[in-house]
Order: sequence, then structure tokens, then C-alpha cells
Amino acid sequence: MNTKRMRKAKIAIGSAYRLLHPMHTVLVSCVGKKGKPNIITLAWAMPTSINPPLVAISIAPRRHSHALIEETKEFVVNIPTMDILKETLFCGRASGRNHDKFKEASFTRLRGRKVKAPAIKECVAHIECKLHSQITTGDHTIFVGEIIEAYADKEAFKKEYDLKKAKMIFHLGGNDFATLAQKVFTPKLRTY
Ligand SMILES: Cc1cc2nc3c(=O)[nH]c(=O)nc-3n(C[C@H](O)[C@H](O)[C@H](O)COP(=O)(O)O)c2cc1C
Repeated sequence: MNTKRMRKAKIAIGSAYRLLHPMHTVLVSCVGKKGKPNIITLAWAMPTSINPPLVAISIAPRRHSHALIEETKEFVVNIPTMDILKETLFCGRASGRNHDKFKEASFTRLRGRKVKAPAIKECVAHIECKLHSQITTGDHTIFVGEIIEAYADKEAFKKEYDLKKAKMIFHLGGNDFATLAQKVFTPKLRTY
């Protein structure tokens, strides 16, 4: 792309959030007081503090998972790869109110190490969280989770992901997804 010759078109305000996509897509597993676990696909998730270690996920109040997280105040952020793209889309289209997503997606429950909610074995990495705080932001709630445990596939993650081994899912919008093609080598910068 020639960055000097770009011509910018107006984007409807309601669609402007799509300018921040593709977003790293995660599967959040949670469980209510009744004990039936659920999974929700989320594109709106991010780290938000190193010390204390916090992650934020944004969930609309009408989602079944919203009620479950408010009930038990914990959740697991699982990182899916392109190997389970179809299942990831399914968990983002069906509701746990009338589906058993673990069963229907043929996912294996991995007992949570520090939380009651199970992790998803078929995901490459897992971040277990206790609810730290929540903020209503318009038509979504930001749940801030304090990370109390984390684990990842030994081959796919050392200090960072090996992108040849773990092809993470990025949400472009609607039913469209992308993955990262390769690592780029940082251009040399003078020290600032
Ligand atoms: C790729 C993708 C990303 C999504 N991201 C979010 C999100 O960030 N926040 C949200 O509230 N819903 C998001 N959704 C929608 C929920 O995953 C969807 O409504 C789901 O069926 C809710 O499940 P539940 O009712 O069992 O909680 C996303 C869906 C897809 C397919």
C-alpha cells in the first residue's frame, strides 16, 4: 500500500469498531451455580494490567455467559487455533441457554486448576481468572479478571507463540476470520 496516496472514505459510526478488527478471538469458558459449563466466543478481549495481572473481556448482558460469570465470579480465557475454527464460530452463534456447547462442539473439559469452570482441552493456552471488577460500557459489560493461573502447550508457546505451530484465530467481522502468516523482523530503531 502506498501510504502517501491513500484516500479515506467515511465509515458509519456504528461500524467504526470494525476498524479495530481483526481482533484476536478467544473462547471463554464459565460455569453457573447449577454446574453446567458454557463457552462464549469473544473478539473483544485484552490484557489490561501486568501488576496486578488483569485481562478484560467485553460481554453483552443478554448473553447467557454474562449471567454465569456474575453468578460464580470466575472464567477461563482459552486460546483457540484454526484447527477448531468451525467450533469457535458455533460457540459464537449458539447460546448455552439451549445448547450444551462442550458436547455439541465435541470439546473436552479440562478441570480448572484454580477455578471451578473447566478449560477447553483443544485450545492451545488457558488463562484462569477470578472476577476483579466489572464496568457497564454502553450495551456491553467489561469483566476484568485477575489472572490466577495460566498454562500453554509446551511446543506452541515458549516466551511467545510459535506462529508455525499455533495458528491463532482473528475475527475480521461477521463470519470472516484471518490468521497471521508469519513473524516479521523488527526494523532497527535508534534508541529513544
Ligand atoms: C467471532 C465472534 C466474536 C464475538 N465476540 C463477542 C464479544 O466480544 N462480546 C459479546 O458479547 N459477544 C460476542 N460474540 C457473540 C457471542 O459469542 C454469541 O452471542 C454467543 O452465542 C453467546 O453465547 P451464550 O449465550 O451461551 O453466552 C461473538 C461471536 C463471534 C462469532
